[in-house]
Amino acid sequence: MPNVLVLPGDGIGKEITPEAVKVLEAVLKGRSTSLNFEYGLIGGAAIDEVGKALPDATLAAAQAADAILLGAVGGPKWETLPAQERPELGGLLKIRKALSLYANIRPVKMSPMLVDASTLRPEVVKDVDLVVLRELTGGLYFGEKGRKTNPTSAYDILIYTEEEIRRIVELGFQMAVKRTGRLCSVDKANVLESSRLWREITVEIAKDYPGVDLTHMYVDNAAMQLVLRPNQFDVIVTENMFGDILTDLASMLGGSIGLVPSASLNGKKGLYEPSHGSAPDIAGKNIANPLATILSGALMLRYSFDLEEEAQMIEQAVEAVLAEGYRTPDLAKPGDKVLGTREMGNAIVEALVRN
Ligand code: NAI
Ligand code: MG
Repeated sequence: MPNVLVLPGDGIGKEITPEAVKVLEAVLKGRSTSLNFEYGLIGGAAIDEVGKALPDATLAAAQAADAILLGAVGGPKWETLPAQERPELGGLLKIRKALSLYANIRPVKMSPMLVDASTLRPEVVKDVDLVVLRELTGGLYFGEKGRKTNPTSAYDILIYTEEEIRRIVELGFQMAVKRTGRLCSVDKANVLESSRLWREITVEIAKDYPGVDLTHMYVDNAAMQLVLRPNQFDVIVTENMFGDILTDLASMLGGSIGLVPSASLNGKKGLYEPSHGSAPDIAGKNIANPLATILSGALMLRYSFDLEEEAQMIEQAVEAVLAEGYRTPDLAKPGDKVLGTREMGNAIVEALVRN
């Protein structure tokens, strides 16, 4: 039986992860695959218990697990610690790097129920359904950096090996095949040498995927096109920093950050987590929105366990519950039926049982 390591972390992480586990158990009930859930410490909770944001036992368990479900880390209690010891750098970034989770996936899909919550016009965002695939362990953020004197200067090197480009772009093509067959590779090949290599390799890989419609776009244009006509995109694959910026921009095309799940993959192994943080301002009140975490569970079924049907069942259950007018307070408008964190988890389970 595959093992899933659950790392609730801090703040609302402790409230939203149980809801995702509940939903995963419900969708797999009576089906061929079931999952074994184990629990571990990360972030502030780990600092308090064992003095370290990423305990050795957690890292070992993460290395042994088939997939990881994470809530969120951080909070005011640990803000004064040195950066490298804090929950974010010492816990989350460290585990991502230690597991070489090089592919970050953020799907952005506009729920028909939330079109009017967008800051963009409904006709622009109503059919948004895209995925941004960001390279997560190379590029500008991990290249050599430093400072010089005379004159005072600083530098960051954007470097990619052929292998690093190949593995992320391959994944982009594989994802495009499973979706609507369109892949947009975003680069800055008019200026950057690393982008020219990126493009050469992408064109070469494309020969293995004759069914995929490949386009190339400069990153500045891509930012504009995402706002102008987001529906033209299916899968976007891009470099680390370009992806960092474009994923934040793209996540707003889906109406609410509270609904955006994420996956960080190395092959089938993945870490799944909501795109938001630990929300200390609302922690412990049973009002946090668990949907981004529940949808991250759907991504786990899709990418780590090839359970596409079950993944879609969760996504459809979320749609169904929103369609019935149920909302957690962060999304509620007058007339909506307001549910707490646990009650929203229960509603998704009930929708699964019904359908
Ligand atoms: P945040 O995402 O935790 O909260 C921003 C705002 O959104 C808050 O008003 C919060 O109440 C609300 N919010 C977030 N998630 C929500 C949910 N599921 N339901 C309802 N409302 C929600 O970001 P913030 O406040 O900048 O950071 C808080 C802590 O979280 C910090 O320690 C930060 O470093 C950490 N953080 C951790 C991340 C992670 O673990 N992946 C990512 C981002 C921040
Ligand atoms: Mg970012």
